Formats: sequence, C-alpha cells, structure tokens
Amino acid sequence: MEFRALYPDELEKWLDHVTHVFSGGRQYFSNHWHNDPWRDPEGIRIAIDNGTIVSTVRVFIRKMFLHGEPVTVGGIGEVSTHPEYRRRGLATQLLKDSIEFMESRDIAVSSLHGSQRIYSIEGWEKVPRYYARQPVTAKKQVAWDVRPANFDDTAEVKRIADLYDGYARKFNGTFVRDEMAYWTAWVRSESPNAWVAERDGNIEGYVSVVRREDQLNVKEFIASEAAFARERGKQLFEDMLSNIIAQMDAASLEVVYPAPIADGFNAPAIEEHGSTMYRINQPDALSNASDSIPNLLHNQPQSLAQGIKSHHIFWYTDGF
Ligand SMILES: CC(C)(COP(=O)(O)OP(=O)(O)OC[C@H]1O[C@@H](n2cnc3c(N)ncnc32)[C@H](O)[C@@H]1OP(=O)(O)O)[C@@H](O)C(=O)NCCC(=O)NCCS
Repeated sequence: MEFRALYPDELEKWLDHVTHVFSGGRQYFSNHWHNDPWRDPEGIRIAIDNGTIVSTVRVFIRKMFLHGEPVTVGGIGEVSTHPEYRRRGLATQLLKDSIEFMESRDIAVSSLHGSQRIYSIEGWEKVPRYYARQPVTAKKQVAWDVRPANFDDTAEVKRIADLYDGYARKFNGTFVRDEMAYWTAWVRSESPNAWVAERDGNIEGYVSVVRREDQLNVKEFIASEAAFARERGKQLFEDMLSNIIAQMDAASLEVVYPAPIADGFNAPAIEEHGSTMYRINQPDALSNASDSIPNLLHNQPQSLAQGIKSHHIFWYTDGF
C-alpha cells in the first residue's frame, strides 16, 4: 500500500473513486475541485493498492474568521475508503498524512463535518451549530428592493464581497472569501438562489436560500454595517425573507437559519446541529488557544461580542 499526494494527471481516477464510494454526484466533486481557487493536488492524500486508488482524504485550503481575524484552516472532506478496504486503518493513516500536510503549510486550524470516532481519536472535537426555525409570512411591500443577485456584474459581486468581509468577521467559523474567483465560480454555483436588497441604488443586504417544500433554508446572509447597527440586521433579514417568499408565490414558509444572525436566538424554536468538528493544529498561531475548542468557537473577545449565546456559524454555501 502506497500513501502519497495525488498526481495532477490522476484527477479523473480520483473522481471515479469518490463518485463510487459516495454513490453518485461526480459533478459535485468535480465542481468542488474546478471551482476552488485554492485547490492544490498536494492536499489530496490517497492510498494506492496495485495502481488503484482505494482511499482518500482531501484538505480544502481556506481561511476562516475567528475572533474578528482570519486564520488559516484546512477543511477535511471526501474521506472515503473503497468498501473492500475498510477497517484496515487507511482513512486513519490518511488523516494523519493530512495533519502532516497542514503542518507543512502552517495551517493553524482544521474543520470537518462528520462525527466518526476516527476523527475524535486524531484530535478533532465537536462544536454544535445552532439554527433558528421561524414561520415567515409573505410581504410584497418592504423597505428594500429585493431582487436576484447578478453574478455577471463585477461591480455588484465586489460590493457583495466587501459587505461579506465586514459581516462574516462578526462571527467565528465563517470562511474568508477574498478571491473574486471564489465568488464567481464557487459561490455562484453553490448559491443558485441568491438575492440582494437595494435601497437608493445601494446594496445593503444579501441572502442565499434553498427551498424544500414548506421550508426555506438560509445558506448565507449578509447585512451592511448600517443595517447591522439596527438590531443586528433583524429588519433587513425579515424584509428580505418575507419579500422573497412573496416572489416565490408562497403565502408563508418555515425559515431555518443560523441562530447567531438577526435575533435568531429569540426565534420560537432553536435546533442544535452538532456535526462540525475542529482541531487546533498550531496553538501558537491563536491568541486564545488555551480555551476549550467549543468556547473558542462560541465566544468572541469582549470588544467584538454581541451578547449572543454563540458566534459560531458555518454557511452551507462554503460546505465541503
Ligand atoms: C468512514 C470511512 C472513510 C472509514 O474508512 P476506513 O478506512 O475503514 O477507516 P479506518 O480503518 O481508519 O477506521 C474505521 C474503523 O476500523 C477500525 N480499524 C482500523 N484498523 C483496523 C484493523 N486492522 N482491524 C480492525 N479494525 C480496524 C478503526 O478503529 C475504526 O473503528 P471505529 O469505527 O470503531 O472507530 C469509510 O467507512 C467510508 O468510506 N465510508 C463511506 C463514506 C463516508 O461516510 N465518509 C465519511 C464522511 S464524513
């Protein structure tokens, strides 16, 4: 058994492997490779037996906001072992290889979405994410002009990216999106239902949603500083959602969104999604590394804290 990084000319073989293990969705894995401006074949770790890829782990190279500052993060994804090769320690060995890879790149933190024991044994720890659930009624007349986002308009995408940078850093765990290509390729493809709120020709809000029957899931949300200054963007959020529901010709939908935004902790129902795990690779790179991992993600320093139960958010759009 050979353990190493993927060679660039092995990409199709690697896509065959992940598509086989996760049964379907080649396009998903292919998009996540080609739309990723930080893609690096060195971050794809593989186990090879007789010339065939039998197990893999991919490190998504990113930065995330933690306590108002960007820190480097390695997102662990596509963890997969061919059924005939399971329970021999291959995924565990590749997780160890990924840790070495992240250390060689000075990547301070690692995150993943999963709950298997193999992750906790290697040092990842669960941090819950809180979601609010609230019925929202359609409203045609609101304080903003709400319309689909236009990813073909470079100036508009730049404005959204600027607003994102100011808003996302108020939380912990949100990814930094400082490459325009990430917006025009990754976000555009992952957020086909994205909307902006405009007033006097100025974009003040953005939200991306996905509808599942009577439920509307918020994949990400942005409020301008001015809108945020009023109850953390509560009115903007409610106006955008109620107007989008009207534009979808629905009377009312159950909106599910990260509770740390827009007064969500006061919603009638709060759910806990506990499958995000973090590992601190380089404690020296973090100022509060002595804190427990959940506290590190839930809390912010006093100067930034917004008096909410948790500042931990992961936008579905950035999912891997
Ligand atoms: C999850 C998955 C990647 C694990 O891959 P794997 O190569 O079998 O992982 P490992 O062999 O390192 O560990 C799996 C288990 O086998 C055990 N194991 C490892 N070596 C072993 C050995 N020689 N003999 C017996 N058991 C062994 C491990 O302790 C672990 O036990 P646990 O499940 O009780 O914690 C694989 O099952 C898979 O591809 N699943 C489908 C895709 C998926 O769900 N991916 C995860 C997305 S988050």
